[in-house]
Amino acid sequence: MKIIAILSQKGGAGKTTLAINLAVVASQSNNESVIIDLDPQASSANWHDSRNLESPVVVSAQPARLKNIIDAAMENGADFIFIDTAPHSESASLAAARAADYVLIPCRPAILDLRAIGNTIDLVKLSGTKAAVVLTCVPPRGSLAQEAAEAVSSYDVVLCPIQIGQRADFVHSITSGQSVHEYDKKGKAAKETDALYKWLIKQVK
Ligand SMILES: Nc1ncnc2c1ncn2[C@@H]1O[C@H](COP(=O)(O)OP(=O)(O)O)[C@@H](O)[C@H]1O
Ligand SMILES: [Mg+2]
Repeated sequence: MKIIAILSQKGGAGKTTLAINLAVVASQSNNESVIIDLDPQASSANWHDSRNLESPVVVSAQPARLKNIIDAAMENGADFIFIDTAPHSESASLAAARAADYVLIPCRPAILDLRAIGNTIDLVKLSGTKAAVVLTCVPPRGSLAQEAAEAVSSYDVVLCPIQIGQRADFVHSITSGQSVHEYDKKGKAAKETDALYKWLIKQVK
């Protein structure tokens, strides 16, 4: 079983969007995939409620219950756990990072977001877990992604070579309780998610 924590101390970075879409790709690849939703806003759990499929299972939990829920998921044969986290909660984020085999830090290519990831990176370093920053919501045109990549290189952290574009599929799919694959499996959003999943699998092998 592999555990991926998705962390960013900033709201709106794309944590829930990544957790949902990666978890669905994992289940479509014949894995038992579980999302543990540590955010009191319960966005992943709400998404699951608006869905008519059981998989991937979403468990809404308080951080103090994280270990028990991971143990239960393991006993039930989970292959992948994606931990969706809340912003502004250092202790919960640290617990998630410590429990994980790998941490993804989504970040929009915008100056305020880039300044804010320093805190998240420090927190992940404290956990000792391997991690990468993933640029999300990258506009299709312009130099923002390039500038963001340069800004990330000033931190001692891996920059994921796969970027997630700013795409309507990511927004519409969640509204309809779907993943980007279920919404449009040939779309660019689905292709990017596949590429990110493949890359992630290599990191945790
Ligand atoms: N790649 C993307 N393209 C377009 N919109 C996105 C993308 N990723 C996230 N969003 C939108 O941005 C908002 C915040 O994303 P969310 O995943 O909820 O962030 P977080 O969980 O970090 O707060 C949501 O409205 C979501 O639909
Ligand atoms: Mg969220």
